[in-house]
Amino acid sequence: MATDVGTIPRIDARGPNPLRAGLDSNRISEPCNIVLFGASGDLTKRMLVPALYNLRLGGILPTQYGIVGFARSPASDDEFRGQMKSAVDQFSRSGPAKEPLWQDFENRLSYVAGDLEDVEGFRRLKERLDRNDEELGTAGNRLYYLSTPPSVFAKIVEQLAAAGLGPKDQQRGWSRIIIEKPFGTSLDSARALQNVVMKVFEEKQVYRIDHYLGKEPVQDIVALRFANLMFEPIWNRRYIDCVQITAAETVGVEARGGYYEGAGALRDMIQNHVINLLALVAMEPPISPSADHIRDEKFKVLSALRPLSHDDVSRSTARGQYGPGLIDGKPVPGHRDEESVDPQSVTETYASVKLFIDNWRWADVPFYVRSGKRLARKHSEIAVRFRSIPHRIFGEAGDQIESNTLVMKIQPEEGVSIRFNAKVPGPKMHIRGVTMDFNYGTGFGVVSAPAYERLIGDAMRGDATLFTRWDAVEQAWIIVTPVMERWEDAPMLDFPNYLAGSQGPQNADALLVADGREWRRI
Ligand code: BG6
Repeated sequence: MATDVGTIPRIDARGPNPLRAGLDSNRISEPCNIVLFGASGDLTKRMLVPALYNLRLGGILPTQYGIVGFARSPASDDEFRGQMKSAVDQFSRSGPAKEPLWQDFENRLSYVAGDLEDVEGFRRLKERLDRNDEELGTAGNRLYYLSTPPSVFAKIVEQLAAAGLGPKDQQRGWSRIIIEKPFGTSLDSARALQNVVMKVFEEKQVYRIDHYLGKEPVQDIVALRFANLMFEPIWNRRYIDCVQITAAETVGVEARGGYYEGAGALRDMIQNHVINLLALVAMEPPISPSADHIRDEKFKVLSALRPLSHDDVSRSTARGQYGPGLIDGKPVPGHRDEESVDPQSVTETYASVKLFIDNWRWADVPFYVRSGKRLARKHSEIAVRFRSIPHRIFGEAGDQIESNTLVMKIQPEEGVSIRFNAKVPGPKMHIRGVTMDFNYGTGFGVVSAPAYERLIGDAMRGDATLFTRWDAVEQAWIIVTPVMERWEDAPMLDFPNYLAGSQGPQNADALLVADGREWRRI
């Protein structure tokens, strides 16, 4: 049983919220060891350890758990604990580490230093895990989390097997592995990685993380579509004109210039987060919310995405790179002036693609997707735009009738809004577009948990619904491969082609203008 260490503060200033009455949000997982590969990295400090700490604070971690950091740099258990305390103090959503919980948490943290090339470090890790099973009651269960650079994912999996840490060598308990994105950097490299992983783990033990799927509003797409009657009958080509999916950021490449130069917006965001959003919006109703039923439907959509020929790529895609500009009124450098970025870089920091899903529901409905860095504001949404009304009865007074739009707001606002037309009060029949808004925070009176918290908790419980199955990862690579190839063959000569803080490059606007449409404003 979890000790009483307090709970995460909720926004319940107006008293108990009737929308949450009777809900039990705690889903405690089984005892286990969590091994963090890449323990000296940024993700561990900013996200993973604060997430584990808050899971403990929220009563979701079991009392029998161990967290073992693994990285190359030498450090003692105590030094690692000190570093993680600073990380929690700085990055935890519930504020600085609290006693007595921190003391308990700290006692379960340990560190193993090892070189990934040397199996000895992995043997020491095994000894530590066996000891934790004895001393902390972790019951032989192991959750490995690969948050290292992707280039060493395969190596870690091989070394786990070599050190007897693979599931086949296990005497008791379960093993699961969470693999960060990107899973491969191309179709071929993703397949090669998959081959290595499958030699050691079974598919059901592999949790490929896409943190977008852990965001509450993304999970709500399934609820909105399949817990309501009124949307599904019009969720098709007969009523929908187009779908626009946007993942816009104000940040640049930050300290990740080295990684990003080899990736670009297409690999970094479109191949995974954005395509996953598209699959959830477009899939058929699953027969149950089980991991495989949902993932089967997502895979069907991805397999129906029309592959782009090299000629289509010039007509159906746009890319950009930001130059210097203003974000929140402050000057920021262009991409080529960022740390670890080639001053002649041709890497795209903005990508947009027009996709079609060749099935009965979606034939000829364009799905416009875009993602970019250093845009006007941080803003992710899915906008479903309906067709125009078939016949206008209001003459000139009705000339401002807009198409209806349903917007699923993913971040920073979290909610759903519907744009429809209404009569302006007064003696004349003037019509204007108005918005009906739902916001999760004010509606349910809670702050959504960060995606990593949800996802790590799910992996510990063995729930893979919000993780990407191999068939979907492979299919997503198949879709972006012609774009990657074409873009690599024909680097853009006019980079940088958009200002930091703007709406993105003009060629992306032209993509929609050519179809008689326009992007929603970021
Ligand atoms: C990551 C990308 O997967 O997602 C980053 O690698 C990007 O480049 C980040 O900044 C965006 O995530 P979020 O949750 O801030 O929208």
